[in-house]
Amino acid sequence: MIKTILITGANRGIGLALTKLALTKKLRVEACCRDLENAIELKKLFDEYPDLNIIKMDVTSSKSILKAAKEFKNPIDILVCNAGINNGKGDIFSKEHNEKNLLDVMMVNVAGPFLTIRNLYDNLNQTDGSKVAIISSLMGSQTHMSSNAVIYRASKAAANNIMRTMSNQFINKNIVVSSYHPGWVRTDMGGKLADISPEESAKGLLHHFLKLKKEDTGKFFNYDGSILPL
Ligand SMILES: NC(=O)c1ccc[n+]([C@@H]2O[C@H](COP(=O)([O-])OP(=O)(O)OC[C@H]3O[C@@H](n4cnc5c(N)ncnc54)[C@H](OP(=O)(O)O)[C@@H]3O)[C@@H](O)[C@H]2O)c1
Repeated sequence: MIKTILITGANRGIGLALTKLALTKKLRVEACCRDLENAIELKKLFDEYPDLNIIKMDVTSSKSILKAAKEFKNPIDILVCNAGINNGKGDIFSKEHNEKNLLDVMMVNVAGPFLTIRNLYDNLNQTDGSKVAIISSLMGSQTHMSSNAVIYRASKAAANNIMRTMSNQFINKNIVVSSYHPGWVRTDMGGKLADISPEESAKGLLHHFLKLKKEDTGKFFNYDGSILPL
């Protein structure tokens, strides 16, 4: 039975919606965010759900992740690498695509899941098995044709690639590793015109996380559970 879910970037957007939904389903939530000052909504939830554990964790820093790991109360059954940024929405000539932004997006979207999973490996529930879900994007699929958000796309393609490599490494360890497109979601990142609400995205994602099985490892899913091309 699934008991504990850890969510990175849990203070807003899809991460916050996933946190709220998981709490209503009586899961224990390790809600991670890089700045506790920004955890206003999470702190409000704590009044209703005292089991909620709010933890400071920056996914770009092994030191921060290892410090957070000491605060987790239970083995992790589902690890959700959700934290992400998109700091360059234009084409290759966009001024947003400067060296600092390139480095930042690679650190959060690529190094982030890598460091989170590597440093929290010992916290995964290895007795009953565990599931790792990387929130990627359809924009990272090689089949998705467009000329915008060049480096964000590359970062999500790399996140999918990390998912594939880790799924192979853990194939005999009872750890399922998959990645997900959460839909085009009305968050700060997705914008007001996006297709679906964070709640709709979270509903589909959590439903699928809870059903993840061994055969799903190494696969890229839409939030509705359908398979997507890498
Ligand atoms: N929205 C969409 O349409 C869409 C589509 C495809 C994929 N996605 C992916 O879905 C995930 C969630 O996106 P969202 O729409 O919910 O975005 P969002 O509303 O912009 O929220 C992003 C979250 O990531 C956190 N974060 C950023 N850098 C971090 C770091 N270094 N350490 C820890 N947390 C960090 C943010 O924390 P702060 O509040 O501290 O900044 C925030 O909690 C991302 O991986 C995104 O790429 C979103």
